[in-house]
Amino acid sequence: MDGAVLDVTDLHHTAGVRPILRGLSLRLGAGESLAVCGPSGCGKTTLLMVLLGLVKPASGAVLVAGTDITRLKGRKLAAHRRAHLGVVFQFGELLPELSPVENVALPALLAGTPRRDAYRDAGRLLDDLGVPADGTSTALLSGGERQRTAVARALVTKPALVLADEPTGALDGVARDVVADLLFAQSAQRGCALLVVTHDTAVADRADARLRLDRGVLARTGA
Ligand SMILES: Nc1ncnc2c1ncn2[C@@H]1O[C@H](COP(=O)(O)OP(=O)(O)O)[C@@H](O)[C@H]1O
Ligand SMILES: [Mg+2]
Repeated sequence: MDGAVLDVTDLHHTAGVRPILRGLSLRLGAGESLAVCGPSGCGKTTLLMVLLGLVKPASGAVLVAGTDITRLKGRKLAAHRRAHLGVVFQFGELLPELSPVENVALPALLAGTPRRDAYRDAGRLLDDLGVPADGTSTALLSGGERQRTAVARALVTKPALVLADEPTGALDGVARDVVADLLFAQSAQRGCALLVVTHDTAVADRADARLRLDRGVLARTGA
């Protein structure tokens, strides 16, 4: 596939003495979504940390938008991440002292977007995702609103690739379905490739393709 947004080749990684990734490869094109499933402890978060460049693998290549991030360091790595990647974590990880709009605008501001444009884009995204943008304290958002704000923050820079780690893991019922629907729909609408790691099959079912992380490599799921 030409122009893959994410092209991972032969990743190996060990945590302590325990092998976590053992020759893992995968490719993801623009606008495609992939769910990586597997039980707790199988290495899903470790894989995302490697794809983010926060953990250096023992060996292997991770091309994000054509550049091998395992070979980048410091400012170059941070700049590449800001330009091409958006991330959603399990518990939102919003900054409580900033308003929802400020939280969402922050990655755009850090990427050099003019202040007025960053705030306009952040406000529109929160509107699209159904989060009250004005006058609300981040600390007072519900769990579902917090995760919708985290999705908005991941999308505000129109990244080539969005990575999500158990994005609905702290939610249940309707809030979980709403966040999962919005994450997939809004990423696709913006042409962002989306990689979700989750042990929730209901979330994984929304992806274009599903793979299982099994003994350090990716395997087709039974379904
Ligand atoms: N920094 C680390 N040092 C040692 N072991 C680690 C470290 N990070 C993760 N692990 C281990 O690696 C395995 C995979 O963890 P993780 O990637 O968090 O799995 P998952 O996200 O699928 O639950 C677990 O056994 C965990 O204890
Ligand atoms: Mg995890």
